[in-house]
Amino acid sequence: MIGRYEIVREIGRGANAAVYLARHSALNKFVALKELSRFDAGDETAAARFLHEAQLAASLTHPNTVTVYDYFEHEGTPYIAMEYFERGSLRPLVGRLSPAEIFTVLEGLLAGLACAEGHGVVHRDLKPENLMLTDDGQIKIADFGIAKASATATANLTRTGLVVGAPAYMAPEQARGEETGPGADLYSAGIIAYELVTGTVPYSGADPMSILWCHVHEPLPPLASREPDVDARFARWIEHLLEKEPSRRPVGAREALEELRAIKDEVVERPMPVRPPRRTVSAILSPLNLAVALAVAVAAAVLDAIWLFAVGGAAYAALVGIAYLSAPAPPAKTRDETGERPRRDRGPSRPRFGA
Ligand SMILES: Nc1ncnc2c1ncn2[C@@H]1O[C@H](COP(=O)(O)OP(=O)(O)OP(=O)(O)O)[C@@H](O)[C@H]1O
Ligand SMILES: [Mg+2]
Repeated sequence: MIGRYEIVREIGRGANAAVYLARHSALNKFVALKELSRFDAGDETAAARFLHEAQLAASLTHPNTVTVYDYFEHEGTPYIAMEYFERGSLRPLVGRLSPAEIFTVLEGLLAGLACAEGHGVVHRDLKPENLMLTDDGQIKIADFGIAKASATATANLTRTGLVVGAPAYMAPEQARGEETGPGADLYSAGIIAYELVTGTVPYSGADPMSILWCHVHEPLPPLASREPDVDARFARWIEHLLEKEPSRRPVGAREALEELRAIKDEVVERPMPVRPPRRTVSAILSPLNLAVALAVAVAAAVLDAIWLFAVGGAAYAALVGIAYLSAPAPPAKTRDETGERPRRDRGPSRPRFGA
């Protein structure tokens, strides 16, 4: 037990925290409980700062931001209780989304950022791991304000010039250790968009410092060089978010969102919720289906009755059909299914765009 919460299991760990699935014992409600393990309990300023940031995060009420339920300290360690997402983060689906699904993710991301901007909250650690998937295929931004609080808690790192956050998604001004505003979040959203479309982030490598150097100095590899089928206007929209100079990016998330919606109307005709891949094979090979098939075969062999084959076969076909239709839809759709314009086939796992 941690406070009022009973720990069920560990969900995952990041640089500064462990996240547990926990149950509020009195309310019988499941939550994700984030434990800030890198926190220095003796640092009063950091504690006050962390509480302030948790309060900022809790002030955001929007369909695309994760709801924070509770903040408390247990034996000197701070905890945040928040909404739990069974489907986890967007990370496993990166590079596997259809254009319509990519627009759904980016619209949700920018709508959540526009709400944060209105409350004066900057995220500073946007990345697919911090975009949670809801059951109905929308995204919610997690960990608002926590990156800044963690940076304060690990002040020894910032003092030596190191920055806290994920280097691959970090804006140039953040990489230089300067004060960051909402423009840094727009840049990170641009990196996420780039990765969703091409399957890779623009700057990668084993050495974090060289990635940060690239954000500051290296020209952006054009989207079309990595994904030739990308819609030109959509590529320009992403490259606009990725301007190195913050003043050259869109003025705010609201403006970027409006432009994205106009582009979406041209590129895809129907936005789609993000769905897990269809489990066709596993649905057909489910234990129930196999048991029915076996029972039919044994009965037919024992009774040697032709009609039993016919009736049993029809029943089994109906069962498989129901299992197939009730399985979730695949991540990538054909033109007929999505209503998108035709596009070249570039393999099953890459997102594709109408030229
Ligand atoms: N509310 C939540 N519901 C379900 N899973 C979550 C939730 N919050 C976090 N997770 C999972 O727990 C993992 C660890 O989260 P955590 O925020 O500590 O690290 P991170 O986001 O990967 O990186 P960072 O250290 O930069 O925050 C995440 O990758 C995510 O999959
Ligand atoms: Mg996180």
